[in-house]
Amino acid sequence: MREDRFTGKTAFITGAGRGMGYQVALDMAKEGAKLVVSDVDDEALASADETLTRQGFPVLALKCDVSSRKQVDEAIDRTIAEYGRLDILINNAGLLKSFLIEDTSDELIDKTLDVNVKGILYAIRKAAPIMKKQKYGRIINVASITGKSGDNSTTFVYGASKGAVISLTRSVARQLGPFGITCNAIAPHAVMTKMMEYWDDAKKEETAGKIPVRRLGTIQDMSYLMMYLASDEAGFVNGETVNINGGYYMD
Ligand SMILES: NC(=O)c1ccc[n+]([C@@H]2O[C@H](COP(=O)([O-])OP(=O)(O)OC[C@H]3O[C@@H](n4cnc5c(N)ncnc54)[C@H](O)[C@@H]3O)[C@@H](O)[C@H]2O)c1
Repeated sequence: MREDRFTGKTAFITGAGRGMGYQVALDMAKEGAKLVVSDVDDEALASADETLTRQGFPVLALKCDVSSRKQVDEAIDRTIAEYGRLDILINNAGLLKSFLIEDTSDELIDKTLDVNVKGILYAIRKAAPIMKKQKYGRIINVASITGKSGDNSTTFVYGASKGAVISLTRSVARQLGPFGITCNAIAPHAVMTKMMEYWDDAKKEETAGKIPVRRLGTIQDMSYLMMYLASDEAGFVNGETVNINGGYYMD
């Protein structure tokens, strides 16, 4: 890790209260980024804010439900008011609820698409003119293996939402690339966060046994990849959705 990789850069991270969003916030701060950490969960947000601030990092903590266009717009306005720039946008907030296809409610369909897809569309729409003016931007979207493979164990809505993330990543990469802005996604699998609490030990062991590197993923694994995609070094990587799953799924 280089201490100055993100010096002078402002990073806005959604769902940064815990899990991989929090880890990438912490790691980017260590490398010089000014942070906007946002989350819908008050407790998680307060905890992230407190931990980062205690370590002396510049942090603006904003409550933001990404499924609300108004809240996303206001949070990005606050970012510009505070820091004057928005260099890195990490669309990490996501929702996963498991139901059989026939038990999937209208509410679940709406909520999953609102958070996992519309939240990203809102944030990118708001950030695009700012980044264009700067002639610089790095956008990282958190998709999932399910967006590529289809979802065999949870809800088909989640898989559909992550497929949309992969598609929109490519559109944004094409349309904003000429302005010095790149847009990429990561497609994780089996990262032990709160979202995966519903996996019991047997499921974890079985899954790790099927992964070529014979372990589950960590939030640190995710953070390293997101930081690379957010760095200047990744300027020629654009429109990709990078698998990060220990070799479980390759394409
Ligand atoms: N953990 C995995 O194995 C895995 C695999 C593939 C993809 N993902 C994706 O990784 C991303 C991060 O998830 P995680 O594993 O760190 O789980 P997590 O549950 O620990 O973190 C998700 C964060 O998003 C926040 N969030 C949820 N809804 C929100 C909303 N409407 N507005 C703002 N914030 C909201 C939560 O409060 C939480 O802090 C998600 O997009 C998830 O779909 C995770």
